[in-house]
Amino acid sequence: MQESLKILPDFTDQAINDRLKFIRAVNAHHKNSFAEDVLTGLTSYPKTLQPKYFYDSHGSKLFEQICSTPEYYITRTESSILKKCSYQMAELNVDKQVIVELGSGSSVKTKYILDAFIKNGPVTYIPIDVSEILLDGGKKLIEDFEGLKVQGIIGEYEESIELVNDLISEPKLIIFLGSSIGNFDLTHAGSFLNHLSCNMHEDDTLLIGFDLVKDVNVLNAAYDDAGGVTAGFNLNLLSRINRELMADFDLSVFSHKAFFNKEESRVEMHLVSNCRQDVNVSSLGKVIHFEENETIHTENSYKFTDNIINELAANAGLKKIEKWKDEDNYFELCMMKK
Ligand code: AVJ
Repeated sequence: MQESLKILPDFTDQAINDRLKFIRAVNAHHKNSFAEDVLTGLTSYPKTLQPKYFYDSHGSKLFEQICSTPEYYITRTESSILKKCSYQMAELNVDKQVIVELGSGSSVKTKYILDAFIKNGPVTYIPIDVSEILLDGGKKLIEDFEGLKVQGIIGEYEESIELVNDLISEPKLIIFLGSSIGNFDLTHAGSFLNHLSCNMHEDDTLLIGFDLVKDVNVLNAAYDDAGGVTAGFNLNLLSRINRELMADFDLSVFSHKAFFNKEESRVEMHLVSNCRQDVNVSSLGKVIHFEENETIHTENSYKFTDNIINELAANAGLKKIEKWKDEDNYFELCMMKK
């Protein structure tokens, strides 16, 4: 077994047992708090809220439920590619015993990758997520895989990947699944990839999932499932503001709206105010006014083409070394290197 990670004293460190530890990354980039971002978003025009705030503990569970709705093809398509191709991915990375995952959630898909890599030797898995849900995933994984250590980081991507870069000198595979990169607009996706690339060594590789442009009806249904799970996920953002910022949003007079915006190549999600109303957000000392049909833009989910992917990679100084797609060309996984 390899040596465990050294933990810097600046970070609080908690060991659940000798194979499962986690640390909280400090807010190194001095990001705004939830309250500050909500204030900015709800006093802008058009109103916006950032999708990272979907993932409180209830929202993270709702997202897991979205992943198993029949309409949301992303998770099962990506899983099917991983199931089929993870051994090939491991073959391209025989030198690696460290796997870092950005936005791991509960790490369900990761087990295909771990299964393949662990055949080559013991693995340290470093899930990074803003939600403590990563601990539940970690507990299951150490039961499933004997040669596995889990060292989770609860924090945002940027500071967490810098922390990993400081702490780990062994070659690593970074994975970023689920087309989570699709939440960024193209400029931000570019700077994000660039930041990743700056925190990679020559030997490191990056495995990244991209949801591809496809039939508009398939896209629209995936973000507005008949069972209303995605609607509940979107509306939970208002419940979170009610809970954490003492607001009085009435969820029965807001509705979920999702559609593919072809010009921008993205699915947009909004919350629509069904009437003219005022909402009091006590902790912010603000009353927010809504006109009838006024929306809060809560998420963009960009859909990619091979050209866009190539351009993003090239601009970040990354080279594609291999790619894998499903039979329907719904989804692509790319392996990249500096
Ligand atoms: C986690 C950003 C990849 O955009 O498909 C799913 C989030 N939102 N349904 C996506 C999401 C509504 C998801 N990502």
